[in-house]
This record gives sequence, structure tokens and C-alpha cells, in this order.
Amino acid sequence: DEIRFAAGAIRDADSVVAMTGAGVSTPSGIPDFRSEGGIWSEYDPMDFHISRFEADPEGFWSERVELVEDAFGGDAAPNPAHEALAGLEADGHLDGLITQNIDGLHQDAGNEEVIEVHGNGQRVACRNCTTRYEAEGVMERVQAGAVPPRCPSCEGLLKPDVVLFGEELPEYPLFRAQSLAERADLFLVVGSSLTVEPAASFPRTAADAGATLCIVNLDRTDLSDRAEYDFRADVTDILPALQDAVRKG
Ligand code: OAD
Ligand code: ZN
Repeated sequence: DEIRFAAGAIRDADSVVAMTGAGVSTPSGIPDFRSEGGIWSEYDPMDFHISRFEADPEGFWSERVELVEDAFGGDAAPNPAHEALAGLEADGHLDGLITQNIDGLHQDAGNEEVIEVHGNGQRVACRNCTTRYEAEGVMERVQAGAVPPRCPSCEGLLKPDVVLFGEELPEYPLFRAQSLAERADLFLVVGSSLTVEPAASFPRTAADAGATLCIVNLDRTDLSDRAEYDFRADVTDILPALQDAVRKG
């Protein structure tokens, strides 16, 4: 069946690269962005533009920072799809895992080569000296009225260490993701609508360079027509079965 064929392609590929989106974490209780009841049905994306942050950092930290906490997921735990991706890497079948998520669940599951292209909600960064801090301590100060929070070492403005609309992706993760995509023989997309650039360009780059495309996503994506393996099903149904089939050969 389809799972067995896809597993064979993963085994045969010299370089397998995966990219995940919010759909890999919905089974862990973290909402995605564009499904019904997703984050964009509660918040206005325009409020999360970098120009809006710069114009009104107080408002961001007092009223809008909850989105970062929602997408970060608090004490959410990895689910069987995260575990399967960690298993693929441990077995030597995954060169790198690009994620658009800011929840850190891939690291919690045990993946080592995780490329966070949209940052991580667990950290905040100083806009002036770029020092990073744990978000937890900063949030405590925010709740105690320190709005907007400032850098303990230079008094610069702190911002969650996540990519807002209108911001560039962090340089090294972007470079890593692009070079992994260019070298991939098989590119696995898991739980992403592939609507946000430049992240959506990674699987496109890989496919343009001849990689086999495998997509696991409940809804259709713009790249679905180009996917050799197109699973429109739950990530927790497909990924463990796929990993199992790769392992058994
Ligand atoms: P989206 O919400 O756009 O897409 C998530 C996709 O996952 C949808 O197409 C769902 O059908 C699918 N999905 C949800 N749960 C699933 C499940 N259990 N099994 C299989 N598929 C499932 O989220 P992303 O593609 O991650 O960026 O969004 C990309 C970026 O848009 C985010 O990183 C964020 C947002 O704006 C920034 O904030 C910079
Ligand atoms: Zn600073």
C-alpha cells in the first residue's frame, strides 16, 4: 500500500528532510493557525506585524503576547507524530527537521537536527544587543507590570524570539533550511498549509531540484499536486505507521 511505497522511498533516499507546521502539534493540544478554531480565528494577523510591534510595544506585551503563549503551548507534550519523526532521525533516515513551530516539541521528542525558522516561544531577545533570555522570567515581570520589558544588560526593548510578519527569518536557520532543501532526495511535509513564505519555498526548492515529495496534511496544499505521496490524514495515524514501515523494511 501507499505507506509501504512511501517507506521504501524514504529508505532508498540518500537525504531525507522534513518540514513541519502547526498541524504536527494539534494532537498535542496546540491550535494551528488556519483551520476552523485556529489562531487566526481569534487574532488578527495584522496585529502581529513587526511594524505594529514597533509602533506599540506596550500594547503588544500587555494585550497581544497571548498569541505567542498559545502557539508555544505551555506544558504541552510531544505526540506520536513527533515521536515518529524522532525515531526516523535516530534510525538514520532523517538528515534534518525544519519546523515553522515555536513550541519546541521536536526537541522534547528527541530530534537533534531541528531548524527553527520562526524562532522559539520559550525565549525573548533584546532588540538592541540581541541577548536572549528565558521567556518565563520575563513574563513574570510583565505580569508584575514591567511593560514593555527591557533588557537587564542594556535597557533595550525585549521581543519574543519569534518571527513576526514583515520580519526576516533568522539568518543561520534560513541558510540551513535552504541547503538541506537543495540536497534532499525526499522531502516530507507534515502538518503545514504551505501558505507562508519563505517556509513554503523549501519543499518547492527540493521538488524543483528533483526530490520526491511526500505530504501528510488533512487539507490540500498548493504543492499537493506535485506530491508523489499525498496523505490527507491525521499526522498521528500516518507518521507512526510510516516510521514502522521504514524500520521493518
Ligand atoms: P496552518 O494553520 O496554516 O496549517 C496547518 C495545516 O495542518 C492545515 O492545513 C491543517 O489541515 C493541517 N492539520 C492540522 N491538524 C492536523 C493533524 N492532526 N493531522 C494532519 N494535518 C493537520 O499552519 P502552518 O502551515 O504551520 O508563522 O502556518 C505557517 C505559519 O503561519 C506559522 O508558522 C505562523 C503562521 O502565520 C508566523 O507566525 C511567522
Ligand atoms: Zn540588550
